[in-house]
Amino acid sequence: MFTSIVAKRAFSTATKQKSTKVTVLGAAGGIGQPLSLLLKRNSQVNHLSVYDIVNAPGVAADLSHINTNAVRNPLGAPPMGESFDLPARSLSVTGHGPENNGLETALEGSDIVVIPAGIPRKPDMTRDDLFSTNASIVRDLATAIAKYALQLKHSPKAHVLIISNPVNSTVPIVAEVLKLHGVFDPKRLFGVTSLDVIRASRFVSELKDTDGSKTKITVVGGHSGVTIVPLLSQSSHSFTEDEIKALTHRIQFGGDEVVKAKNGTGSATLSMAFAGAKFANALISAASGKKTVTEPTYVQSPLFADEGIEFFASNVDLGPNGVEKIHGLGELSPYEESLIAAAIPELRDNIEKGKKFVA
Ligand code: NAI
Repeated sequence: MFTSIVAKRAFSTATKQKSTKVTVLGAAGGIGQPLSLLLKRNSQVNHLSVYDIVNAPGVAADLSHINTNAVRNPLGAPPMGESFDLPARSLSVTGHGPENNGLETALEGSDIVVIPAGIPRKPDMTRDDLFSTNASIVRDLATAIAKYALQLKHSPKAHVLIISNPVNSTVPIVAEVLKLHGVFDPKRLFGVTSLDVIRASRFVSELKDTDGSKTKITVVGGHSGVTIVPLLSQSSHSFTEDEIKALTHRIQFGGDEVVKAKNGTGSATLSMAFAGAKFANALISAASGKKTVTEPTYVQSPLFADEGIEFFASNVDLGPNGVEKIHGLGELSPYEESLIAAAIPELRDNIEKGKKFVA
């Protein structure tokens, strides 16, 4: 009995509960709504702020009726950026549109800003085909983040998570905008590539009849077609050459299966919301002091910097200040070496395109 109380105390000091304000930009969309729902289930999210150019107040009202619990800031202070006291265990959900400085209010004091705003693919479109519309949406939202989230005294440290495609280019766009405003912190900007890893685990588990949630597959590179590089040789399973080729193709182009099945009405939304919430929740756990939180993500990375590649996805250890350690790729098979060689030129073009757009 005594031991268990001591153990409990030790645990509670090691992983402090922390109040968190999470803002979702594009919250009324196909991804935004289920993502906000999943984030509402995290008891460490004290303020869920949902913003969209349409329907955000309705989404917020709907979410606000869900009776999930939220923890109070253990220090007794109001959550960061809040000017009013929240009653214990309450979770504030606020909805904001563009009117009445809604974007500013939505962003003020955010600890995490997630962006799923922008148009999704239709059949026969690549993610790069979305650039002409989504680049300006993401640039404008990044400008607002720089002004209203990162420069305000309450929240100079917000983590920014980019879901809007093409991620290979939208992350460099956000980085360039934040640099222009003097608030870029490479440890706090993430392209969300979790869905590629979730798909990889699922496809392998289907083939090998294993539990997908425990099937670890590393996926590196970027988030589109050939830039998605699964490292199947590092899995605990063994595969035939044909299996490796088929699985690799399915992981690289898995998004197309959903786009095709949705028949012109959009791309992955539910699995993406699951992936986005997984990543945001990992970041919140890491911020509370949980040790060894490792997630795949597309970040400013030294791994291929000598080949002119500024951003690259790989496994990353997360801590209270975001990126703590970027893992190397480990040992690659000759086939994986060839996949990386094919990914690099496309990734370089995608990154350049994003940077040029802001310049
Ligand atoms: P959607 O069209 O259902 O929702 C997009 C939402 O963004 C809409 O509610 C729209 O009103 C809003 N929006 C547009 N401009 C905005 C602005 N300036 N400010 C705030 N909100 C704005 O699209 P869906 O399916 O939710 O996809 C969103 C994005 O996520 C797409 O670019 C899609 O390609 C991308 N995506 C990324 C994945 C990834 O693995 N990173 C996976 C699947 C999709």
